[in-house]
Amino acid sequence: MSLKVHIHTDILPKHIAIIMDGNGRWAKQKGMIRAFGHENGTKSVRQVVEASAELGILNLTLYAFSTENWNRPRLEVKTLMKLLISSLKKEIKTLQDNDIRLTAIGNLNMLPKKVHEELKEVINSTKNNSRMTLTLALSYGSREELTHAIKEITSKVKNNIISIENIDESIINKHLYTQNLPDVDLLIRTSGEQRISNFLLWQIAYAELYFTEVLWPDFTKEDLYKAIIEYQKRERRFGKTSEQLS
Ligand code: IPE
Ligand code: IPE
Ligand code: MG
Repeated sequence: MSLKVHIHTDILPKHIAIIMDGNGRWAKQKGMIRAFGHENGTKSVRQVVEASAELGILNLTLYAFSTENWNRPRLEVKTLMKLLISSLKKEIKTLQDNDIRLTAIGNLNMLPKKVHEELKEVINSTKNNSRMTLTLALSYGSREELTHAIKEITSKVKNNIISIENIDESIINKHLYTQNLPDVDLLIRTSGEQRISNFLLWQIAYAELYFTEVLWPDFTKEDLYKAIIEYQKRERRFGKTSEQLS
């Protein structure tokens, strides 16, 4: 029986973020090239997107390509960019059928023109969908995002648009790529690695972290349910005592 029945729909995480890791190792285990792992990883993306929408998760953010990933072999980067274009073309129907809005965070100007254009097109054609917001982190790095935000804020201070006294957490939030998203409630990383790799450092301040050994191409709806069930067992204290919460 599906684990789905154990999920409490009244206390769902409002924002799930996933570090989709392990494509290369998955392929290697099968004696295949890394690209084969990336291709199969797109199936897991579809599973997780569908499962999240079905459950009623409002925000799902997927780490697809980091600023550091530009340092991979040129051919692998090229393969990933090609795969992105074909996935965007292919998945637009899934997004429309499921009433999902696509957005993207990251230094998007770094993306090849074709990718950027396809991305803009899908973002534009799904912008009125309202069941769930799916955010792709592309050419995304948290330090780059924070640096970008600091530049914007200081330039506004210089031009007397904001005063230093008024800089607070909400102003900083408004200058991040994630400005329209709530904080992350649940962060999942696959493949057994237990690190953040420059993902949403500010936004995960109070996220529950969930690590699994499952390699990304093997990740299914059931694995997502497992993570959510574990999340729902945790007591989120936000600095308070357990007694204060009840
Ligand atoms: C995640 O899988 C996909 C991207 C980072 C683009 P990897 O390609 O990092 O796979 P491993 O970690 O080498 O197994
Ligand atoms: C993190 O995975 C980035 C994405 C999943 C897109 P990496 O495979 O790049 O992370 P490290 O290098 O192992 O930390
Ligand atoms: Mg990896």
